[in-house]
Amino acid sequence: MANSVTPAYLPQERSSKGDILVVEDTPASLQLLTGLLSEAGYRVRPAPDGELALWSARGQAPELILLDIRMPGMDGYEVCRLLKDDARLRDVPVIFLSAFTDTDDKLRGFAVGGVDFISKPYQFEEVHARVQAHLEIARLRQRLAYQNEHLEQLVEAKAAELAQARLSLLSERQLRDLAERESRLRLSEIAHMNRNASATVYCAALVHELNQPLAAIMSNAEAAELFLKMERPALPEVAEILADIRRDDLRASELIQSMRALLKKSEAVTASLDLNEVVRVAALLLASEARVRQCALTLALDVPTLTVAADRIQLQQVMINLILNGMDAMAERPAGARRMVISAGAVDGAAQVLVRDHGSGFQCELGRVFESFFTTKPAGMGLGLSIAAAIVREHGGRIWADNCADGGAVVGFQLPLEVLAAEGAP
Ligand SMILES: Nc1ncnc2c1ncn2[C@@H]1O[C@H](COP(=O)(O)OP(=O)(O)OP(=O)(O)O)[C@@H](O)[C@H]1O
Ligand SMILES: [Mg+2]
Repeated sequence: MANSVTPAYLPQERSSKGDILVVEDTPASLQLLTGLLSEAGYRVRPAPDGELALWSARGQAPELILLDIRMPGMDGYEVCRLLKDDARLRDVPVIFLSAFTDTDDKLRGFAVGGVDFISKPYQFEEVHARVQAHLEIARLRQRLAYQNEHLEQLVEAKAAELAQARLSLLSERQLRDLAERESRLRLSEIAHMNRNASATVYCAALVHELNQPLAAIMSNAEAAELFLKMERPALPEVAEILADIRRDDLRASELIQSMRALLKKSEAVTASLDLNEVVRVAALLLASEARVRQCALTLALDVPTLTVAADRIQLQQVMINLILNGMDAMAERPAGARRMVISAGAVDGAAQVLVRDHGSGFQCELGRVFESFFTTKPAGMGLGLSIAAAIVREHGGRIWADNCADGGAVVGFQLPLEVLAAEGAP
């Protein structure tokens, strides 16, 4: 582990071979054992009885205790029981020393918490071997406990790191959402600018298109007056005239609505709508412009409805930009050759629109035409196609531009199709 640290309290830091408490009431035995263990390199604390042993152990915990059982006053079992009651000393291994060889005594020793039993008289080699083994076990257990604790700390630190990472990820996502929202807002700002730039075209169209229903309403109203002035007013005819007036009025108000929506600055609203209808309205808005420029505009709508989830105004803007570009491209062509076909249909499960003109074709690198501010026109802003592309992509679709083999250009786009109502379907 990269950041593992040896803890200050690990045994080998305190004494090289081990810190042993020897409890023995026979002075000669105590002296002998103390001497031999010290010679073997241990730090040895001698205690002649139980009370002193407890006092010494509580002062500083030894690493191992050699504990005689039979002692005056407090015997070894009692000392061991008290040691095990002390949280700080509970884990210190206790090896009993006894002249008893009775199994019951040994069992009692283990029952109070002893780890081993050495019978007197003993060979020092045996004592040494057992001391060494138990010290090693105790040290390993201590190290394991430390590593466990350390591991827990590490896990906690990692968990905290993870929580922090999640937090920053969250705020990164929020930032990204914000950036996306901002870029959408920017798109709607630029799109609005682009719509305003075309406002004169729309206004001319509106004036022209309104003229027609207004003139029709006027002549119908005059006719109705005449019918009503008759001796026996022709009421069925008047009713028919009124229906015509209502139809013309609706047409005029639809035009005004479309124009207002187009010029109004508003956030995108996604709704299920018919792409054919968007194409029709765009063509209607530009019909008078097409007449002025002597362009023949034909619609070829393959299916009755092409339902897509989209913002109506933004799609109208795409259509208007593509149609105006086509008309611009045909400006130099003889009047009779200025033909444009707008087709819509379902292709590969997508709603597709193609705006095909018979103009100059793209006179520039095709790869650049969707770049913002790229224009070859003296009065162009170079925004139409880049806005169209941004809108189409925003709707999960794709857009492309190409030159046609027999002259002119085609710009097409596809949007995810929601529902396709096939002709003749219920
Ligand atoms: N149908 C087309 N035929 C030939 N070239 C086209 C056609 N549509 C676009 N282009 C070329 O692509 C360029 C970029 O078109 P885009 O609509 O982005 O900008 P613009 O028409 O120049 O200006 P804006 O639309 O902002 O008024 C045009 O300047 C023109 O060179
Ligand atoms: Mg343009």
